[in-house]
Amino acid sequence: MSTPTTRETPWWREAVIYQVYVRSFADSDGDGIGDIHGIRSRLGYLHDLGVDAIWLNPFYPSPQADAGYDVADYRDVDPRFGTLADIDALVSEAHEHGLRVIIDLVPNHTSSDHPWFRAARAAAPGRPERARYIFRTGRGPGGDEPPNDWLSNFGGPAWSRITSADHTPEQWYLHLFAPEQPDLDWTNPEVRAEFESILRFWLDRGIDGFRIDVAHGLAKDPAMPDLAGRYATSGPAREGHPHWDQDEVHEVYRAWRRVSDSYAGDRTFVAEAWVHTPDQLARYVRPDELHTAFNFNFLLAPWDARALRLAIDQSVHALGKVGAPATWVLSNHDVTRHVTRYGGGELGTRRARAAALLMLALPGGAYVYQGEELGLPEVIDLPDAMRQDPTFLRTAGEEKGRDGCRVPLPWSGTQPPFGFGPPGSTPWLPQPAEWAGMTVEGQAGDPGSMLTLYRTGLRRRRELAALGDGTLAWVDIGQDVLAFRREPGFLCVVNVGNRPADIPDELIADSAVLLTSGPLDSESRIPAATAVWYGRL
Ligand code: NOJ
Repeated sequence: MSTPTTRETPWWREAVIYQVYVRSFADSDGDGIGDIHGIRSRLGYLHDLGVDAIWLNPFYPSPQADAGYDVADYRDVDPRFGTLADIDALVSEAHEHGLRVIIDLVPNHTSSDHPWFRAARAAAPGRPERARYIFRTGRGPGGDEPPNDWLSNFGGPAWSRITSADHTPEQWYLHLFAPEQPDLDWTNPEVRAEFESILRFWLDRGIDGFRIDVAHGLAKDPAMPDLAGRYATSGPAREGHPHWDQDEVHEVYRAWRRVSDSYAGDRTFVAEAWVHTPDQLARYVRPDELHTAFNFNFLLAPWDARALRLAIDQSVHALGKVGAPATWVLSNHDVTRHVTRYGGGELGTRRARAAALLMLALPGGAYVYQGEELGLPEVIDLPDAMRQDPTFLRTAGEEKGRDGCRVPLPWSGTQPPFGFGPPGSTPWLPQPAEWAGMTVEGQAGDPGSMLTLYRTGLRRRRELAALGDGTLAWVDIGQDVLAFRREPGFLCVVNVGNRPADIPDELIADSAVLLTSGPLDSESRIPAATAVWYGRL
């Protein structure tokens, strides 16, 4: 296959993008951590799965205080994962497999090990080296109190104090995440110029796009007012919040769009913007800003027909007003895996199967987080001593954090490392023994497996003209049932309830069942937590 080419509908309006959590995907050298070679060796798997693109979580040199979201050098690769040459090879081999490649860009903060932050610490207050970050003098006697009451997303205050060479306490710096992730000052033109240059560095190397980390965080209210209990730090940002979703972030994205548009080949941005309403989200994807944004309202919706329909309707409506496609996402490396969120065990799996067919039938693009195609649950019993998420460490274990959705993938075999790494290697997080029954190898030939459902769903999605970009029309057939038509000739029905649902005969009179998430007793009676795709005969 050759490098993907631009079709009439830009690919990003309807792509299914597979999230590769690099450290947990495939470990080629046996150090327990996934790497770029590992991904290269599995491109055939991703191609056969039927996705259009991959998104790689950060692979840059980093002390790994937050699994790579603390970047020390934006133009290189951490030796744990490989080299720049390996990334170049990955991008060209992915293109040969017909897969695009999106990389993670982390503009809100650098690592405290980044040369800029080292220089900032070493410089005197007021020097230009400090002005790339947000340094302030503390409040109270001796400046001993943080400059305001902002909180870190990972627990504790959002400010840390530095000391001068002779250990005298000095200014404070802002970090909305871990202290090892100082926030950049985006009012500084040098910061803006640097990131445009970083964009070009990667676009020149042939990558197809960027996932923008904390896209809603770059601009802060210059008055830096106290939150005073008015706003939460974590969770979707409400309007008026002094450090989330400030208007000024949009200027940054307009400039970035000019950069991406100057490159051939449909390069794209996806925003990670945790905002409260779909209307807030839509502002990130206006025609001269980013292309798409993750739809966290869909992810956050419980397994409830009304809640899901509301999330779908509001997203489609708000994004449609600015001409942007919706995206659909059920899981990622920051949230509890959806099999577990939906109730766990057999029930959670059944609902997750139905949710997969719902997601793939909705208009727009979709994200598949590695392992969801295997139906992996959250690992809830990791030993505390193995946990690495700063959330766990900064809340003294009160919050368990996100390690449970980041456990390395089971590929084959009957015992750990299940083909994740060479035999005898020890994955960075322990894999449950039960995953012996969930490996790729074990599921590949099983017609009833989650993997087969994803493979079939993705293949059908490509074949069916009705799916991908476009619109939907709801059909009301009961309060626990989501049913919608897409043209030409497609109907998706999801029984979200706990009892079988009868489908009116006239609705499916001239249709055949194309795919179901579970067994049906009859074509017109859908068991609980089951989705069906019908197509016109
Ligand atoms: C969002 C990322 O997805 C998450 O993993 C990370 O901890 C924060 N941003 C901070 O970069």
